[in-house]
Amino acid sequence: MSKLVWKPGTLLAPVPPALVSCGTMERPNVFTVGWTGIVNTNPAMTYISVRPERYSYALIKESGEFVINLTTVSLVRAADFCGVRSGRDTDKFSACGLTAEQASQVAAPMIAESPLSIECRVESVTALGTHDMFLARIVAVNVDPSLVDAAGRLHLGNCGLAAYAHGEYFELGKRIGTFGYSVKKPVKKSRKPAKARDKRR
Ligand SMILES: Cc1cc2nc3c(=O)[nH]c(=O)nc-3n(C[C@H](O)[C@H](O)[C@H](O)COP(=O)(O)O)c2cc1C
Repeated sequence: MSKLVWKPGTLLAPVPPALVSCGTMERPNVFTVGWTGIVNTNPAMTYISVRPERYSYALIKESGEFVINLTTVSLVRAADFCGVRSGRDTDKFSACGLTAEQASQVAAPMIAESPLSIECRVESVTALGTHDMFLARIVAVNVDPSLVDAAGRLHLGNCGLAAYAHGEYFELGKRIGTFGYSVKKPVKKSRKPAKARDKRR
């Protein structure tokens, strides 16, 4: 395959159209962030890259706190709205019918309608050019209990997570593998009972 060579661009995809909540319970704000990800396992660390002109920028810089709320199919419309309207002139929680919920470790509110909310505390701010990167420690994770089975396992694939790729929103599709499945030995199916198999050895 001979690919076209383009100038540098932000074409890593998909990214999460994350709903990032900030401010306080009394004056909550939420905006959409695609430039986010995990950068360390232990301690759990994340980042969000934010343009300084965003209303949320000053809120996060002053408080040093924010919450990343995962976006599901039913929240995509809100994610798009929160990504094109500013908290400077719109109460986006009320406009989108979102409920601000008290977080456990930070003053920034969580979004009750999101199945998974990640509480973050900023560790450093790095100016990169158009955006400043807030590197943050994850201080708590809040999960909808209906996604956790009796054994305590999280089933994140069951909540209709949304993805964003090059200006378009998508719903996560069917599961096509699990971690390490490519190197797992296939389990041999035997029709004979265990005793009969022992006799053959
Ligand atoms: C899908 C999507 C992803 C976005 N990703 C970012 C981002 O990573 N960083 C950023 O600063 N703005 C991003 N934006 C734009 C902000 O969400 C938008 O400017 C928003 O209105 C800012 O709200 P605020 O003024 O209330 O802070 C994104 C918008 C959309 C729709």
